[in-house]
Amino acid sequence: MTYKGSQFYDDEQLLNKYLERRRWNENANDTIEKPVFMDLIGDVTEKNVLDLGCGTAAFGKELLGLGARSYTGIEGSEKMVELAQETLPKANGKVIHTAIEAWEFPASAYDLVVGKVIKYHRTIEDYFGGLQKAGFVIESLKESKPREENFHNPETYHRRMKIPLFLLIKARKVWG
Ligand SMILES: C[S@@+](CC[C@H](N)C(=O)[O-])C[C@H]1O[C@@H](n2cnc3c(N)ncnc32)[C@H](O)[C@@H]1O
Repeated sequence: MTYKGSQFYDDEQLLNKYLERRRWNENANDTIEKPVFMDLIGDVTEKNVLDLGCGTAAFGKELLGLGARSYTGIEGSEKMVELAQETLPKANGKVIHTAIEAWEFPASAYDLVVGKVIKYHRTIEDYFGGLQKAGFVIESLKESKPREENFHNPETYHRRMKIPLFLLIKARKVWG
């Protein structure tokens, strides 16, 4: 079975390129996205976390290390699922191979839902409207302006300052 958002990662060459980019110590996810993301989610101690589009689940391993009670990753790429299974501790981490859109999630099972998935051609208005319709109230919106202290190389920092990169939305479910 193939899933639209995951096909890319089931191509061996593209996957290796992606993994190589993520290993680079100046990669945009670690230098720009992550610091703001961590600020937004706050303390994860004792939280049951759901990660939509978990990839290798490296983030899950980290959250469990920070004291999360359990971590469930949803992932559409078969190759990513294999990597995630190798990454996660069996005791409290698991990955489910499915498209996010097709998964029937258990009600009230999670304290925190995260998703770091690339979605092109959607506007802030689309996300805002979609979340509102699904019963969420937006609590915070960030565009992760690069912070110089997170970079090893000032050149990368100055280059990143010219590129808009991540949109992060924190929302709380209030009905539905
Ligand atoms: C850019 S990677 C990010 C992985 C991880 N969230 C991280 O931050 O390291 C996006 C991941 O989301 C998965 N994905 C994208 N759309 C999906 C969908 N509709 N259903 C399930 N997985 C999806 C992809 O297969 C890929 O592994």
